[in-house]
Amino acid sequence: MTRSLFTSFVRVTKIFGLLAGAAVLSSCVRATLAWTDLEPNGAEATPPVLSANESAALWREKHAPQLRAAFERHVIGAMPDASSTEVIEKRVIDEAAFGGRGRLEEWTLAAAATFNGVAVETREVMDRGGFLVQVAIPNDAAGPAPIVMMQTFCPSWDAMPHDGVSRPDDAGSMSGGVFGAVATYVFGRFICTPPYEEILDRGFAVASFFPSSVAPDDAEEGLAELRRLSAGHDDDESRWGAVAAWAWLYGRMTDAFEADDRFDKDAFIAWGHSRYGKAALYAAAYDDRIDGVIAHQSGTGGASLNRNKPGESVASMTENYPHWFAQSYANAAGHEAEMPVDQHHLLALIAPRPVLLGNARRDVWSDPNGAFRAAQGADPVWELFGATGLDQDRLDEWAPDADIAFWIRPGTHGVVEEDWPAFLEFLDAHFGPRDN
Ligand code: GCU
Repeated sequence: MTRSLFTSFVRVTKIFGLLAGAAVLSSCVRATLAWTDLEPNGAEATPPVLSANESAALWREKHAPQLRAAFERHVIGAMPDASSTEVIEKRVIDEAAFGGRGRLEEWTLAAAATFNGVAVETREVMDRGGFLVQVAIPNDAAGPAPIVMMQTFCPSWDAMPHDGVSRPDDAGSMSGGVFGAVATYVFGRFICTPPYEEILDRGFAVASFFPSSVAPDDAEEGLAELRRLSAGHDDDESRWGAVAAWAWLYGRMTDAFEADDRFDKDAFIAWGHSRYGKAALYAAAYDDRIDGVIAHQSGTGGASLNRNKPGESVASMTENYPHWFAQSYANAAGHEAEMPVDQHHLLALIAPRPVLLGNARRDVWSDPNGAFRAAQGADPVWELFGATGLDQDRLDEWAPDADIAFWIRPGTHGVVEEDWPAFLEFLDAHFGPRDN
């Protein structure tokens, strides 16, 4: 990447941070005016996910592929026909990071997306020939470690607080200074940096990646980069949006970790908050090597139903963030009930793998009740596979062992003190290396 391109990346990153903060802040202000109902309010019944005489084989071979195709056509845009990932470097930063608990590495990956025979490589960051992923691996792991793959709002040098993490000379900080203090106050202690020590103590590895470094979270620059990456796709209506690209990038991390024996291939978990929660759900729906999902406050275009919703409408989201989804989703705004898919179909595509849907009571913008009803609508597919899907009747009956674990706490949009203990309970229940 040239110097000027890089400087503009850093500048965009900072502007993105401020704009994202302002945008989410305005949502929070709206959200604090209302509380979500803790009983499923049944505003609109979801169309059934299963047809009569459905079998697990029919679901896998016929209906799931049809639903994926429908999401590509009507919501997220076309996914690549083929993909490849190259691990360029695994740089050891610190063998005894996080108080000796884990080894910290920085990986450089380059990926290519192929649409209609045209393969295009992801752009490079900091002249490194690819993009960077920070990986923390528990030092006392008895065997291959389960890994939580996180996409974060903050650049990697902020999300992974270690001096050895690559950072540009003029990098700003979203976790330090006044901005960091305000962001943490408004969006919670863990908005930028998860509790690495606790996660490592439980035996989980953590990979942290800043998706905006590859598919920028910016309408103009993002759309230009998404177009470049999908050069072989000639239909603008169904061209992929950033959420699809971020979802695809979870898959590229999966490619890289699958080839390293230090990770447990049956315990790859995609973690994302809000816009990245949307991406984490699509990642698992399209890539069955992803074994579990934590999608916190994923809202519209994520776990919450499109029809008849309080909070953020499809129209408002696609207008404010035109680069997130395919144009076809924006065109469907106002006619959501006529769409061939709703978000319970997206959840159903993850069955029978475990998924945690995180929520906050006053984050009505994300519509927790709509997410709960989507979970209820998707539940029969878990049952079809003999799994325990949703095991609660109300939004606040937390059941971390269930395969659809619905978490709701008081408060608003963000990743706060109570959230990570709940995430860890879910991770332990389904992937805990200490219990296996
Ligand atoms: C905005 C947007 C949501 C999104 C959220 C976030 O509030 O309206 O759709 O989930 O930002 O990513 O924090």
